[in-house]
Amino acid sequence: MAAGEWWRHGVIYHIYPRSFSDSNGDGVGDLAGITARLDYLNDGTPSSLGVDAIWLSPFYPSPMKDFGYDVSDYTGVDALFGTLEDFDTLVTEAHARGIRVVVDLVPNHTSDRHPWFLESRSSRQSPKRDWYVWADSKPDGQPPNNWMSAFPRAGRAWTFDQRTGQWYLHSFLPEQADLNWWSPAVREAMDEVMRFWLDRGVDGFRVDVAHRMAKDPQLRDNPLVAMGDDDDPAGPWRARRVAEMQLELYDEDWPEVHQILRRFRRTLDGYDDRMAVGEVYLLDLRKLARYYGSGRDELHLAHNFVFLHQPWKPEAFRSVVDEYAALLLADAWPAQFLGNHDHSRVASRYDEGGNGLARARVGAMMVLTLRGTPFLYYGEELGMVDGEIPPDRVVDVDGRDPERTPMQWDASPDAGFSLPGDASARAAPWLPVAAGAERVNVVVERDDPTSMLSLYRHLIWYRKGSAALRWGGYRSLPEVPESLYAFVREAPEERLLVVLNFGDAPVRWPAGPGPGDAARVELSTDPARQPGPVALPDLVIAADEGVVLRLP
Ligand code: GLC
Repeated sequence: MAAGEWWRHGVIYHIYPRSFSDSNGDGVGDLAGITARLDYLNDGTPSSLGVDAIWLSPFYPSPMKDFGYDVSDYTGVDALFGTLEDFDTLVTEAHARGIRVVVDLVPNHTSDRHPWFLESRSSRQSPKRDWYVWADSKPDGQPPNNWMSAFPRAGRAWTFDQRTGQWYLHSFLPEQADLNWWSPAVREAMDEVMRFWLDRGVDGFRVDVAHRMAKDPQLRDNPLVAMGDDDDPAGPWRARRVAEMQLELYDEDWPEVHQILRRFRRTLDGYDDRMAVGEVYLLDLRKLARYYGSGRDELHLAHNFVFLHQPWKPEAFRSVVDEYAALLLADAWPAQFLGNHDHSRVASRYDEGGNGLARARVGAMMVLTLRGTPFLYYGEELGMVDGEIPPDRVVDVDGRDPERTPMQWDASPDAGFSLPGDASARAAPWLPVAAGAERVNVVVERDDPTSMLSLYRHLIWYRKGSAALRWGGYRSLPEVPESLYAFVREAPEERLLVVLNFGDAPVRWPAGPGPGDAARVELSTDPARQPGPVALPDLVIAADEGVVLRLP
């Protein structure tokens, strides 16, 4: 491993700023709130979570039609979240604790209130007209093509502008106009945005919808096909997107996107040890693997949404991991995750009759022991579940409020989300606190050795001390009972066996395929199992249990 490259072995914690910690009592989380909680994330001791980096969803000025993913100024901070000084303080305080800071870059689209779009929209002669994708109606008055917004409620991906008599493209809401990445000026402008934040000390970017920046310059119709999977356990979001009967041939993953990413990489390479992780929402591992480029020239990491969309079946996860490992070039490094702000929380998504939490523990062990950089979504470490949102509290256009409820810090009515001590100085949180917060919260779990938080802490700190887990090789063991996913992680100095039971019955470790007889239990998702020596033929893995074993 090259020196530096923290992003290859660190654990990255995803914060949705609106929902993490509210310092001023207005009911919305903010940057100062995050700064106040940094010791929880990592104070250098195993009593803290121990993450190595935070990734912040957007905190830029925004009309908040998509809660910040509609940016109206790429180089500022929305007053709701604080000021640029608050951001600088956050970076300084995070760095003082060895926590890197990754910010969201939203290059595919701006808010329709962004000055660039206001200018572009003002006339067909505007010098910024070609910064966005404008097109004429079809002869019959219809939109330029059949492309659809990723949000079903937004319908068509085109909105007609009366004043200038053309349509503009929006892959998401009409208030999120797509930039035209064929324009050299757009590329230069985004270089500037990146440099602005890199100069301020950020350690990297999460690139929003990285696969969408380039589209067919001829704007051809997508072919119509029947596809889609309404039973997708990750929630309806992506499933609905692909169920639209369109093969997204022309409106995403256009080859030019790789040129754009190479340009991003050159900008990043002008600084020390910075990185980009892409939201590459392509449910095709072959396409995904290409986003790493041909050797350190595109993304450093790409989120693997194929993994996130698997049903709770060991063979499903195993085959995705193995297939992807075979597709990636030797130097390309996977990013492991099971949740983000667009998807039903793990503890809810995989719940069948009350086993959601037990399964989430196995999921945590899987993400933190596979080869690749683990990403955690805030609250996952507590076992937070999807919140129930009464109809009059629904705010997201695409049903994603349940996974964005306030972080649960303590057992008080607002779960300790708002910091001001005086209750009369606190507005209600912007989304209701999820049910069960009086049990599922930091204060309660911190001192409970059986809690989800304790499991995460153990896994994360164990990982830090383990060469095999941080950068060792990976080999799955195919001939194990069907409810198990088992793999070996191996570095010159140590060999670990990870066994995950996805089933609801105990399973005896099979004699034969195993890598030897004597082992030592290092960690288990089951608090009842003690660390210590075990003979593998005697090992019985409990229902919904995951175990890390040290091999001789
Ligand atoms: C990404 C974000 C999502 C947002 C969309 C549009 O998919 O994760 O939250 O709505 O981009 O920016």
